[in-house]
Amino acid sequence: MSKSETRQALKLVNITKNFFQAGQEIVVIKGVNLAINKGEMVALTGPSGSGKTTLLQIAGLLDLASSGQIFINDVNAAKASDSERTVMRKNHIGFVYQFHYLLPEFSALENVAMPLLIQQKNRTESFAAAEKILNEVELGSHLHHMPSQLSGGQQQRVALARAIVAKPSLVLADEPTGNLDSNLSEKIFTLLRDLTKKHEIGCLIVTHNLELSKKADRIVSIRDGVVC
Ligand SMILES: Nc1ncnc2c1ncn2[C@@H]1O[C@H](COP(=O)(O)OP(=O)(O)OP(=O)(O)O)[C@@H](O)[C@H]1O
Ligand SMILES: [Mg+2]
Repeated sequence: MSKSETRQALKLVNITKNFFQAGQEIVVIKGVNLAINKGEMVALTGPSGSGKTTLLQIAGLLDLASSGQIFINDVNAAKASDSERTVMRKNHIGFVYQFHYLLPEFSALENVAMPLLIQQKNRTESFAAAEKILNEVELGSHLHHMPSQLSGGQQQRVALARAIVAKPSLVLADEPTGNLDSNLSEKIFTLLRDLTKKHEIGCLIVTHNLELSKKADRIVSIRDGVVC
């Protein structure tokens, strides 16, 4: 099914997650239901240890839920094999973290082109697409800078560009502004919101910043693994 035929980027149905630690079972996610449409930004807030990162890891198909269903772009990931999940992740999900995790030995342009090159897309087209997105994050003049030659805000803008270059259905952002001052945080937050709206990508963003969360379309709070 093509992306344009579906409206929902993400649907979580009754997701639970248990961890075993020192022989004890801990229930970290307790029956979470959440749907995000394409072009919609949802802010996920909650105290430390409430399960935000765990939920993002599950939504991003980086970790398995203990039970429940997960649909990415209307495809049921619970029924997919490991290799099918990897393909779904590459084709449909972009990630942004608190730390940019850019590859230090590659330029901004190469870092942004990387997801397309990994998908074995044509090199010329991959670099052209990377340049276009870097222009959208106003880094057209920094294409050949190495990550160490960029400021914190610029590095995070490269990371945003990398997350959306492959035109995912969903972007998952785990405190992408946690490392930035308040002025830069707002810029990165609104840039991510505007980019995901423009490209009709669903976005789930973890933030501790209440003022920023109000700029999202919707706020979802999680407490002790329960969404409220
Ligand atoms: N691999 C694991 N094994 C055991 N417990 C885990 C594991 N990963 C996470 N947890 C537990 O799950 C709970 C939720 O952790 P999580 O990282 O999702 O919290 P969070 O809401 O992202 O917190 P923060 O705001 O501090 O980043 C915590 O109590 C944590 O100790
Ligand atoms: Mg976390």
